[in-house]
Formats: sequence, C-alpha cells, structure tokens
Amino acid sequence: MNNKNIFVACDTSNIKEIRKIITSLKNNKLKITPKFGLQFFYSKNGRSFLEKFEKDFWLDLKINDIPQTALSAIDSLKDLKKCKYITVHANGGLNMLKAVKKHAKKINKNLKVLGVTILTSLDNVSLKEIGHTRNVQQLVLRQAALIKKSGCDGIVCSPQESKMIRKKFKNLLIITPGIRLPGDKLNDQARVMTPKDAFNNKASGVVMGRSLTNGNIKKNIKKLIDHLGK
Ligand code: C5P
Repeated sequence: MNNKNIFVACDTSNIKEIRKIITSLKNNKLKITPKFGLQFFYSKNGRSFLEKFEKDFWLDLKINDIPQTALSAIDSLKDLKKCKYITVHANGGLNMLKAVKKHAKKINKNLKVLGVTILTSLDNVSLKEIGHTRNVQQLVLRQAALIKKSGCDGIVCSPQESKMIRKKFKNLLIITPGIRLPGDKLNDQARVMTPKDAFNNKASGVVMGRSLTNGNIKKNIKKLIDHLGK
C-alpha cells in the first residue's frame, strides 16, 4: 500500500480546518501529501501559512497564461521551499509548458511540474459547448503528448484516461483527480473512479478531496485503507 500516493485536496480557506485536515492525515500506513489549491492560496493567510509549512506539498494553481507571465508566476513561488509539485494547464500551449519547466528546474531541481489536461468536471457535452470537435479521450491524449514533449514531469487527468496515457508514455507521472469512495456523491465531478480502480488503471497517484475531508476524516481514511486492501 505504501507505493500508492494519495494527494489530499485541502480545499478550504480556514486555517483551523487546514490544521485539522493535516493532523488527521498523520499516523496511518498511507503515503499522503497535502494539496493546496486556489481557495486556500488566495485566502488572506493561506500563502503565509504555506511559506512556513514544514512538509512537502502540492500547490495546485493550474497556471494558464503567456509563457513569460507563467514563468514569472513560478519565480514568485520560490520562497515556498516545501512546494514539491506545481500545476500548469496544457491549454497554455507547448512554449508555456516548456518555459515553466525550464524555470522550475532553475529555482528548485526537486520541483515537479504537472500538466493539467481536460478537467475531470467536464464531459463530451461540455467540450462541445466550449467548441471542441474532438472528444475527451482524443483531447487528453493530444495534451499528454504536449506535456511529454515539454519535458514536464507528469500529467493530471481522469483515471478514465490513465491506462491509455500509460500505454503511450511509460515514464510520465499520472495523477488522477475525480476520485470517489464507493457510494460517495459525485458533486461537480464527471469523469470519476474509485481509488482502487484508479490504481488498477495505472495511476501513479490519486487526488482525493471531499471523499476524505467531508465528515470524519479519520473514519474516511480507515474506509480508504479497507477499500484499497480488498
Ligand atoms: O473533492 P474532490 O475530490 O472532487 O476534489 C478534487 C480536487 O482536485 C480539487 O481540489 C480540484 O481542484 C482538483 N482537480 C480536479 N480536476 C482536475 C485537476 C484538479 O478536480 N482536472
């Protein structure tokens, strides 16, 4: 079970809640890394909390801008010494992905850059609405090729695409949000799987938010351990 990476989405702007989540993630046999996103980072105390945070974490900002702005954004994060993963959106294009990866290497050689593909809240109907003519799988595959070409370390996609990506790109980290424990509500997610199915579909790590953080976190972790052990 130890080689299964679990990234816990700490999606709140309340420091007390964040502390409660972090404490509840301790003392179990899982390999857990916290993930902080827009809600916490944009909050009044979020950034300064992360500056002093003493454990490795993932900063999920899904940067999507012109290359210079994107790499400058990464530069502004260099004081966050424990930030081990950052995300950039594949929609920003090859030059942006390359620029971010190159700059990330300069500021911290251990910082992994993950390229985000089509969000797990979107399905083929949403893609049509946006104006895409390719389906989810075709687009994610195309974005994965860009991410690989850029030299980025990994890809964020739905577990429904992870097997297909693994077949083509053997060495990419594949991290999958859109994860629910059996029976949990999907909420705004569209392309979902259980953690066990995601690992069986070649995910290197899974992102879990509400399935773990809603209700009693310790109990939810126990549920996850039982689920993975079956
Ligand atoms: O609560 P839930 O497990 O749905 O949370 C998923 C987390 O993963 C959120 O923090 C969300 O921002 C993030 N994420 C996602 N889909 C992506 C990339 C990141 O849901 N494609």
